[in-house]
Amino acid sequence: MKYRTHTCGQLRSEDVSTPVTLSGWVHARRDHGGLIFIDLRDRYGKTQIIFDESVNADAFAAAKSLGSEDVVTVDGDVVARPDEMVNANLPTGAIDVQCRELRVLSPAETTPFVITDRDSASEELRLTYRYLELRTDELQSNMMTRSKAYQSVRQYFHDLDFIEVETPVLMKSTPEGARDYLVPSRIHQGRFYALPQSPQIYKQLLMIAGYDRYFQIVKCFRDEDLRADRQPEFTQIDVEMSFVDEEDIYAVVEGLLRRLFQEFLGASLPDPFPRLTYAEAMERFGSDRPDLRFGLELQELASHVQKSDFNAFKSVLDGGGRVKGLVVPGGAAYSRKMIDELTAWIKQYHKAKGLAWMKVTSDALEGGISKFFSGDTQADIINDLGAGEGDLIFMVGDETKVALPALGALRVELAAREGLIPEGDLRPLWVTDFPLVEYDAEARRHVAVHHPFTAPNEEDLALLGTPEAKNIRSRGYDVVINGYEVAGGSIRIHSREVQQQVFDLLGIGSAEAEAKFGFLLKALRYGAPPHGGIALGFDRLVMLLVGTRQIRDVIAFPKTTSASSLMDGAPANVSDEQLRELGIALRTGGKA
Ligand code: AMO
Repeated sequence: MKYRTHTCGQLRSEDVSTPVTLSGWVHARRDHGGLIFIDLRDRYGKTQIIFDESVNADAFAAAKSLGSEDVVTVDGDVVARPDEMVNANLPTGAIDVQCRELRVLSPAETTPFVITDRDSASEELRLTYRYLELRTDELQSNMMTRSKAYQSVRQYFHDLDFIEVETPVLMKSTPEGARDYLVPSRIHQGRFYALPQSPQIYKQLLMIAGYDRYFQIVKCFRDEDLRADRQPEFTQIDVEMSFVDEEDIYAVVEGLLRRLFQEFLGASLPDPFPRLTYAEAMERFGSDRPDLRFGLELQELASHVQKSDFNAFKSVLDGGGRVKGLVVPGGAAYSRKMIDELTAWIKQYHKAKGLAWMKVTSDALEGGISKFFSGDTQADIINDLGAGEGDLIFMVGDETKVALPALGALRVELAAREGLIPEGDLRPLWVTDFPLVEYDAEARRHVAVHHPFTAPNEEDLALLGTPEAKNIRSRGYDVVINGYEVAGGSIRIHSREVQQQVFDLLGIGSAEAEAKFGFLLKALRYGAPPHGGIALGFDRLVMLLVGTRQIRDVIAFPKTTSASSLMDGAPANVSDEQLRELGIALRTGGKA
């Protein structure tokens, strides 16, 4: 039996009078007396099928009982639509197929939600029946874009003579950053593989092996808290290159991004991308992934605060903290209730002790903490901050690592509330000169900001081994687009001595370093070329290409925010037999 001669998106007016066979899903059915119309759908499009009682009474009778989502095959002839019925918005809108014979291949039960309307069901229901949600136009189009993007990425790297190498999925656990997903070994009981958080070490070994230019589109696994742009398993475009510095990496990555955004959105990204150091990004935007589509930049208030009587802020400054603020255009109209809500929000989610404010009148400040500033200082603040009548100034005073990110979050929140974000804009940038390490209060030691293989900035090398080492800048870089961290990478350490010094700084003793990364340290002895690389978050890129804020919209079978799959029930219990084979006894007896 022949299922189809054409797809449901293929037929045009040139095909009129051709006998055809189409197969697909019943998208919609409309009964008009002696005529029944169905829209037949497959992933290529929709074609309208006509069942005419006066032409074929049997097919007409069969069509009467068709339900939504039934899978059918239609044999018929292509007919031209009357002029007034032509639908110019539909590629197949100039024709219909007059049915001669209808075969029902697979009747469908009533679906738990309406396929044509994603919003008709809760996310939970849609994820439980993900294969049905994947039938929607929106998800089909997203998955198509994703598929084309793989091809485009591969072509780009292939043309530049990169070699694609698959690295192991079962590897040794070397946790840094997130937790590892572990896989127990049956053959070596009591031992575990880990799923890679990234192929970082392998790609560096490939450089030592002389592969020079590597890329891979690769799944990575991280057991970490999830967000709208984070999944426990996600895909990277992983890249590594030898005999390069930052500029070589920037050129390759910018070329790729320019190509993708041109191809999928017809958008020309800036050439070159602007660059901001980490320090400048934090000072101006309160974030290491600044959204450059709008202003609302953070502004310095220390000198004005010093002249005020506001002791809470003065003691913050005396304690080495910071007082910064931002101006909300037209914000003087905010109600007390709204300011109170924002204050509660910034305290709860961003650890700030409070949110101070002042309204701007024609030449002075009013309300909030304005009474602590003299008339002259008020005028200076208005002038310095470029504020105008009717604006509102928000201020946060706190230790640096609280004040800047809290204001950064407020900046994004206010821009969204005020509608200041121009949706069509694309504003990529490089963020550079990250700190090499940061203090982790929980672990009570310094941890790597990127990862332990990131090279220190050459100018700061002399600080290694000194008390100033915590201020060393790294040779790490990120690509940020519209507030999303789209890629991160670095120039690597290729000297065993420097690698050892960085491990020392991170409090990784030589025994621990040997146990965790011994194979990399050994490899560095056998001729390691200078090298560096980057990994782009493929899912996040596709999110930008299709214009969604939800990573689940671009992954075929995503997990929920609690890292489970509602469709197949993973993670699930396993049988006693399986556990016995692995030599595993559950501490909790299998109960949480
Ligand atoms: P990094 O950890 O910055 O670098 O990851 C690179 C990029 O991967 C994306 N990403 C994620 N996307 C979705 N869900 C997640 N849970 C998730 N975590 C990360 C981000 C990020 O910028 N080995 C280094 C790269 C290198 O140094 O070459 C690494 O993995 O877009």
